[in-house]
Amino acid sequence: MSETKNNPLLSFVANLTGEQYLKIEEDLGHGFVRLNTSEAERRQAKHDIQSMEDIVLEMMRNSRDAGSTRIFIASTKEDNIIRKVTIIDDAWGIPPDLHKLIFEPRVTSKLENVITDRYGIHGRGMALFSIKQVADEAELVFSSPGRGSVFRVQTSTGLLTERKDQSTYPTIKYRKGEPIIIRGPHNIIRTALEFNLDYQNLEIYLGSPSDILATMYYLCAQDKDNNGGKSQDYKIWRSVSQAKSAAILADVAERRLGLKISVRNAQRIMSGRVGPLKTMLEALGRQEERKEPKRKVDLLRSEPLAKRISQEDLEQLAGIIGNSFKTIAGKYFMELTEAPEIKTEENCIKITIKVQSLGN
Ligand SMILES: Nc1ncnc2c1ncn2[C@@H]1O[C@H](COP(=O)(O)OP(=O)(O)O)[C@@H](O)[C@H]1O
Ligand SMILES: [Mg+2]
Repeated sequence: MSETKNNPLLSFVANLTGEQYLKIEEDLGHGFVRLNTSEAERRQAKHDIQSMEDIVLEMMRNSRDAGSTRIFIASTKEDNIIRKVTIIDDAWGIPPDLHKLIFEPRVTSKLENVITDRYGIHGRGMALFSIKQVADEAELVFSSPGRGSVFRVQTSTGLLTERKDQSTYPTIKYRKGEPIIIRGPHNIIRTALEFNLDYQNLEIYLGSPSDILATMYYLCAQDKDNNGGKSQDYKIWRSVSQAKSAAILADVAERRLGLKISVRNAQRIMSGRVGPLKTMLEALGRQEERKEPKRKVDLLRSEPLAKRISQEDLEQLAGIIGNSFKTIAGKYFMELTEAPEIKTEENCIKITIKVQSLGN
């Protein structure tokens, strides 16, 4: 080895045949080399993107800079090790001939408008390249000028880290009326919320693919109601509203929006059984209303089903059950002691009917 080092010819041959050759621009002797640009870039990539949270952040920064108003982030974990994240925005999109090039190093549209935010300088054209280097898969599922973009990234948590605890919602305190994150793991939820607190005009949704699709479906229906049946624009996320059947919805979701869901789940979305997500900032408001700063909200999973039912509807249900019960209670010489009590748990509605002998 040392013989090779001291002999320029041998060293030349070794470099030429070995892997090293691909990494070096110049051998400076004494063990010093000048890396070639691509090797330096590959090394830099590993430094820039060290976790799934970093990926989500860079994607949000890109959407922000491209004029987004809404960002949908779908996240799932499979077999406990594969993290799949899809980011869908309504920004100005990317022309088709640049779809592949944006993943190459130093490709940027920010020649004059480099942005410095709290995360540093933005406009080196390195983030998508770095993401592609460190992720198992990173692809642009869809993008078209004026219609927004859909990026899908898959990592294996064995190779690229992420916070273990992806369900704890950060603890918020209000200082002079402004929400501030004071505690909580630096997970995807916190990354997105922190970003949203800095850019409060953005609507950011974070949830499972089904949650995200249900939210899109709901927002389209709501906008149509408000616009006399007309869709507002042709952003890609609105393509969910074209689906006439669950099978088509599942297909559109996967091909155009990078969201893989079963036809059964698509059915549940179309029939309104999967409700929409709150925006990250709305979810924050709810946390404050309840004054339970340490409460855990698992935004990456669906909200417990029964918890979605409003108090008003629960009371109405209790009334109906109470009245129905009265029609049979007499047969058994009993009556209700009080109105039925109704409680919700995860996926369960518990109704307690207290009875006493008639005329007690
Ligand atoms: N969500 C997006 N919407 C529109 N254009 C995007 C989006 N994400 C990336 N791009 C384009 O791809 C280019 C490369 O992105 P990136 O690698 O993050 O580098 P940088 O943001 O530093 O330019 C951006 O300059 C931008 O033109
Ligand atoms: Mg960027």
